[in-house]
Amino acid sequence: MIKKKLIVNAKKIDKFLINFLKNQTHSLLVRPMKYGVISGGKKIRSTIILDAGKMFNISEKKLINICAAVECIHSYSLIHDDLPCMDNDLIRRGKPSTHIKFGEASAVLAGSSLLTLAFEIIADKKYIISSNAKNEIVRNLASCSGHTGIAGGQELDLKFENKKKVLNEIIGMQKKKTGKLFNFCLYAVGVIANKNKKEKFFLSTLGEDIGLLFQLADDFLDNKGSKKLMGKPVKKDNKKGKSTLLSLMGEKKAYLYAFNLKKKILRKLQKHGKKAVNLINTIEFILERKF
Ligand code: IPE
Ligand code: IPE
Ligand code: MG
Ligand code: MG
Ligand code: MG
Repeated sequence: MIKKKLIVNAKKIDKFLINFLKNQTHSLLVRPMKYGVISGGKKIRSTIILDAGKMFNISEKKLINICAAVECIHSYSLIHDDLPCMDNDLIRRGKPSTHIKFGEASAVLAGSSLLTLAFEIIADKKYIISSNAKNEIVRNLASCSGHTGIAGGQELDLKFENKKKVLNEIIGMQKKKTGKLFNFCLYAVGVIANKNKKEKFFLSTLGEDIGLLFQLADDFLDNKGSKKLMGKPVKKDNKKGKSTLLSLMGEKKAYLYAFNLKKKILRKLQKHGKKAVNLINTIEFILERKF
């Protein structure tokens, strides 16, 4: 059931992105950009946005630009993550990584262009939300993507290779490189739903925990998952000397940590009752997933 939901959502976002790019002047970078963002990936962040939207009865129309922007930023981060200067991975989503297919320079430029495209998508005139809400969303998306978010976390991830790091350092790094974009997903829904500061804070920390859970599951799948199902190389974190919970505390304790984190997330969602059922199913999938 969740698989079907992911496919339906992915199709919607792909369609939106194809249309958005069609309405822009063509450039040489469109091919590597589309290669990096369209027809691939679970689009789980979009699903989380749409699931959270259901908690507040927000229509998809009001959320689709946010979903597309988040997927652009996520795909940009993966294109750069696979580069030889970072994780040096040749396969992504079952295909050659963008830099393998188009060369490093085009991959760097296509990645950067996806990052800026995200902001064009939010700022688009046809995206009708209040200008205050737009401003707040742009500001938060920027801080969740840059040095206080994904980019800063990626820097730590690389600097932590082959270093002995303690639990809080690893969790802090993972919350930045992956948690922050999930933080944005829930925060943005709170903005659209016109929630107050306290509720938006609740949503953003909830999002960050979901992102952390997602990264923990990704690390487990690197260790135990199938290359075919994941569509990317496995068993590489250990070789690269990545600092993860697995490397710090071993499988048993790391799984227990993740299980307790999932319980904490679900407990926080209790107050939303039946309206949170879609989001709860997606959270269950995050830890059980095989892809
Ligand atoms: C992979 O993210 C990178 C992490 C942040 C763990 P996803 O597992 O969401 O990648 P796709 O988009 O489905 O390929
Ligand atoms: C990537 O983490 C996180 C990003 C923000 C790009 P990983 O390096 O573990 O992601 P995969 O395993 O290559 O997808
Ligand atoms: Mg990485
Ligand atoms: Mg990687
Ligand atoms: Mg990984």
